[in-house]
Amino acid sequence: MSAVLEVKHLKKAYKHDKEMVQAVNNVSFEINSGECLGLVGESGCGKSTIAKMVTRLEAVDEGEICLNDWAITRVSGKALRSVYQQIQMVFQMPVDSFNPRIKLGEGIMESLINQGIGRREAKAKAREYLEICGLNKTFAERYPHQVSGGECQRASIARAIAIKPSLLICDEATSALDVTVQAQIIKMLKCLKKDLGMSYLFISHDLALVQEICDRVMVMHNGSIVEQGTPDEIIRYPKEDYTKKLIDSVF
Ligand SMILES: Nc1ncnc2c1ncn2[C@@H]1O[C@H](COP(=O)(O)OP(=O)(O)OP(=O)(O)O)[C@@H](O)[C@H]1O
Ligand SMILES: [Mg+2]
Repeated sequence: MSAVLEVKHLKKAYKHDKEMVQAVNNVSFEINSGECLGLVGESGCGKSTIAKMVTRLEAVDEGEICLNDWAITRVSGKALRSVYQQIQMVFQMPVDSFNPRIKLGEGIMESLINQGIGRREAKAKAREYLEICGLNKTFAERYPHQVSGGECQRASIARAIAIKPSLLICDEATSALDVTVQAQIIKMLKCLKKDLGMSYLFISHDLALVQEICDRVMVMHNGSIVEQGTPDEIIRYPKEDYTKKLIDSVF
């Protein structure tokens, strides 16, 4: 199997009160094509920092990030734009990721146009991907405040996948939604994985969700990966004390 993403010895420290705090400490992993890799761990352990470095929203202190065998750790300019196209991210609060004054369809079109797609094709694609994400074409004409949280999250996933990324990073993408909507979004993400062969980095504090969608899971604690395996291995036979505590707190 070929790796879509390969991360080697990634490090990131932040300065707090004149002291450097290691948010991510020597993290290495890879995500294979069509694979969903879960990342779990308590609040503040460094999950989003990894996501932000991989998407190049945050600079890397040390280490290497390879996207389809291409070292993207320090690329800039036009190459960075290509990285932004190939790695898309879906966040926790979908409404915040859309401009409130722009209709959802226009918002999706805008990101397609930024990738060099013509206006007419972008319009058709925006509607097509809204449909793939379970939203009929009327949603293209609505403003972000005119849809529910779940619908808005579907639209943000539609926008992310419309530009055909190699990797979709979901950072607590369903945490703000109620359980029923959460289940619908997970079902949709699973379909996209099956139908489009999408690869995911699925960040969540919810081990039950991770078990539902992920092929493999990494457990993170204080900036390091402390354990990894299939969801079943991790949940049934956790090796590390930290993982055991994490599981006890959930189940
Ligand atoms: N821009 C920043 N400047 C300074 N410190 C930061 C910054 N971003 C994150 N941190 C710190 O780095 C650590 C890791 O944060 P991160 O957001 O990666 O955690 P997380 O695992 O995503 O947590 P959560 O589950 O709450 O989202 C935390 O201690 C946080 O306070
Ligand atoms: Mg986070």
